[in-house]
Amino acid sequence: MMFSHLEPYAGDPILSLNEAFHGDPRDHKVNLSIGIYFDDAGHIPVLACVREAEARMLAESGPKPYLPMEGSAAMRSAVQELLFGADHEALRSGRIATLQTVGSSGGLRVGADFIKRWLPASQVWVSDPTWDNHRAMFEGAGLTVHTYPYYDATRGGLRFEALREALARLPARSVVLLHACCHNPTGVDLTREQWRALVPVLRERELLPYLDLAYQGYGEGIEEDAFAVRELACAGLTFFVANSFSKSMSVYGERAGALSVVCGSAAEADLVLGQLKATVRRNYSSPALHAAGIVSRVLGDPALRAAWEADVAAMRDRITSMRRALHQALSATRPEHDFGYFLSQRGMFSYTGLSAPQVDRLREEFAVYLVRSGRICMAGLNTGNVERTAAAIAAVV
Ligand code: LMR
Repeated sequence: MMFSHLEPYAGDPILSLNEAFHGDPRDHKVNLSIGIYFDDAGHIPVLACVREAEARMLAESGPKPYLPMEGSAAMRSAVQELLFGADHEALRSGRIATLQTVGSSGGLRVGADFIKRWLPASQVWVSDPTWDNHRAMFEGAGLTVHTYPYYDATRGGLRFEALREALARLPARSVVLLHACCHNPTGVDLTREQWRALVPVLRERELLPYLDLAYQGYGEGIEEDAFAVRELACAGLTFFVANSFSKSMSVYGERAGALSVVCGSAAEADLVLGQLKATVRRNYSSPALHAAGIVSRVLGDPALRAAWEADVAAMRDRITSMRRALHQALSATRPEHDFGYFLSQRGMFSYTGLSAPQVDRLREEFAVYLVRSGRICMAGLNTGNVERTAAAIAAVV
């Protein structure tokens, strides 16, 4: 047999857990595993603006040619305005190369392949901890991946000085993967002051920041969550940013994302775009028409855009209210524990500090599913399950 020597796949820590959740017959099960926003009834919402964009697409339905390797022009320019602001100098001077990609994961991987080819001596540093798939993606592209200090387990906060010192020692042209907002898995973000303090280190060490912006709007707001992107662009740094609409438009399976590379000049951006197109062609050839149709319409039509902004605010506010409810319920039952991190952390995730055996107990005894690192997806909580979840956590801590 040709493939009998293969190692069995152990499964993905997040996706396999989500599959296990769906196979669990218990009615009272709670899914806090995967980074998906569920509404208060436990459903993935279909945003009215997305439905309307799709209705218009159906009404205009015509031929379905391939998109170019770099994706839809309308989506690419809408993404640039969303990320950088329409008046940003980097945008006006044409020094940003943007491609529509297959989700932000597609963007991350295309960027990683590009780096491997054109900066082959560069190595990658990711936060400790980071999204499980970051390391796999960069290593899959043939790059060596290391970690820099990030999470402070004693306070549920950030080890900013250790982070800055670690970056200050990196070789020139090292790639530094940073979460622009709503850090996955910890929910611990840099403050604006900390981003500003990091810029001189990135510049002086000639580092290559690679921002992952998968949760725009879930932190402080759509504009506010683009702060790091704009700050690095204003500082004149060269960097990558992969962004996603999976969560912000609730279009997970459409694979709507983009990759932007901010360059030193328009001529350099042209070169970069050309080689990114070549990378895409070797990879998946071109991205999806449907994703481009949704994103360009929602961002480009003033009424749909306003409706989307309101939806994002409502999703963010619901998560905040769940953070408060969980904090309150846990603090009432286990007053000796400090659960303040649920309130200070931002976005979909919080890092609970629960050990793998405690996580296993939650799943096996209480049907509460979270990733074995102790990451909890707050967006899986709702008014119907938060008390039950708090009681289960209180029982295992
Ligand atoms: C997550 O971190 O749960 C999400 O980004 C979904 C995924 O693909 O892992």
